Amino acid sequence: MSEKQLRSQNWLGKKWKDGLNYLAWMRNQGIPTHEFKGKPIIGICNTWSELTPCNGHFRELAVSIKRGILEAGGFPVEFPVMSLGETLMKPTAMLFRNLVSMDVEESIRANPVDGVVLMCGCDKTTPSLVMGACSVNIPTIVVSGGPMLTGKFQGRNIGTSDVWRFADNVRSGIMSEEELNLAESGMCRSNGHCAPMGTASSMACMVESLGLSLPENAAIPAADSNRKVLAQLTGMRIVEMVKEDLKLSDILTRKAFENAIKVNAAIGGSTNFVIHLLAIAGRIGVDLKIDDFDALSATIPLLANLQPSGEYFMEDLYYAGGLPAVMKELIEYLHPDVKTANGLTVKENVMKAKNVNENVITSLEKPFKKNSGIVVLKGNLCIEGAVLKPSAASPHLMKHTGKAVVFENIEDYKARIDSPDLEVDENSVLILKNVGPKGYPGMAEVGNMGLPSKLLAKGISDMVRISDGRMSGTGFGTVVLHVSPEAAAGGNFSVVQNGDVIQLDIHNRILHLDVSDDELDARKKAFKEDESKIKRGYAYLYINHVEQAHLGADFDFLKGGSGSIVTRDSH
Ligand code: FES
Repeated sequence: MSEKQLRSQNWLGKKWKDGLNYLAWMRNQGIPTHEFKGKPIIGICNTWSELTPCNGHFRELAVSIKRGILEAGGFPVEFPVMSLGETLMKPTAMLFRNLVSMDVEESIRANPVDGVVLMCGCDKTTPSLVMGACSVNIPTIVVSGGPMLTGKFQGRNIGTSDVWRFADNVRSGIMSEEELNLAESGMCRSNGHCAPMGTASSMACMVESLGLSLPENAAIPAADSNRKVLAQLTGMRIVEMVKEDLKLSDILTRKAFENAIKVNAAIGGSTNFVIHLLAIAGRIGVDLKIDDFDALSATIPLLANLQPSGEYFMEDLYYAGGLPAVMKELIEYLHPDVKTANGLTVKENVMKAKNVNENVITSLEKPFKKNSGIVVLKGNLCIEGAVLKPSAASPHLMKHTGKAVVFENIEDYKARIDSPDLEVDENSVLILKNVGPKGYPGMAEVGNMGLPSKLLAKGISDMVRISDGRMSGTGFGTVVLHVSPEAAAGGNFSVVQNGDVIQLDIHNRILHLDVSDDELDARKKAFKEDESKIKRGYAYLYINHVEQAHLGADFDFLKGGSGSIVTRDSH
């Protein structure tokens, strides 16, 4: 590739005063001009942070990426962006997903980079980086940080999906606090993100099935030296992608999105996948609707026996053959000729894979579960839709009618859920309002609310729960999420009352509130907007511009992209 064709030459190829400005300041880092002049400049977008433990090993991983870039004749420039740690950030990391996407977009566009490696790990670090990069659309590849090693406790395998079970066990007296502390110390044994098929693992599988990473990216554990090998190979490949001018829009076609939806169904991926994939599609200009998730995944069986829907962890998936082995089994459902980041098609990438453990990766003939994918419910309680993960739901609740027990917000829920006076039984339907995009704000992962203590004590382990919020990818239960429009937007969900009868029929995709339209209209007229709304700062921008869940909860003004051209030059 000639120097002229490289985007970075608009900075580093300039002469006289302009050129001096750009070159001299690179030299102050101790880099001689010949090191980068005329070479593809590759940005490494790093989400390393000690406040994002899942990405805590990224400085080390970046060294391997750099080695690959240099080996292939490029020049690496590592830059930080805001990092979103799921475990520590309040009120919820999701509040900042769109903010980070802006950080990524502007950092890429404003700088002399010809291609980018996105370093993704903890849940939101993947969608935010991909969204931002899509709005610039230069050659881009993803390397994920990899999952943690499987946790150990009292001789058995555990992961972060067990947190919910342990919490309920402590509340119902089955587990002591001492045992809980022991479990905590054995849960996160190495670098990496959550080891079940939670949101981070689903996002790593999403980028691999979209074709945005090298094959095997999703499952190699963070602690396995093969993760560094993959990072180095990724660094080498991005230099080639720049030479081929293989941009995100060349990979992210409608067919690639359809593949990702089907793969997410086959692995029992997180419900958060829906919201993030919709947002990514919006950025790259692919027409994807919430109903596509149901239509495309309805016939896909659950092949991967992974927590929280199954038994095993990401480490086991890697040893069994990784995501390529799952995709090979699924190939008749996929678009096999879609091109991926390594220049090969999906089929070329996966057909060499071998499934070496049929307990972990089951076959189409004998799938782990028949019910898979994402169910999109419709009805007067969720005019624009709501989602549910059937593989995590209880069979006896798939068709259920019960009376609503309403919590107006998360504080109300916390204050009353364990009260002996709470009028609730196992047939009740728990409703949690105002945890949606605008209402929380940020759409918190509180949808799989814990059950009332008095029912746990009776041995009840699942109930129908409905909210406008999200659920952790490691969560499970008969949980209806992402109700749209959310309560804070003034839809029917905002006026559900205690004792209203609600029908859930997962097979027929129905979520119905048994209240007449006239009564609902009367209630909505009396509905008062929350006056305590946030008045300043990023959260103010967020609540005024975030779209509803069925559209991906992106900002209305961030849809699409602005490309890679910088129109003004201050030098
Ligand atoms: Fe980071 Fe689970 S907390 S992936």
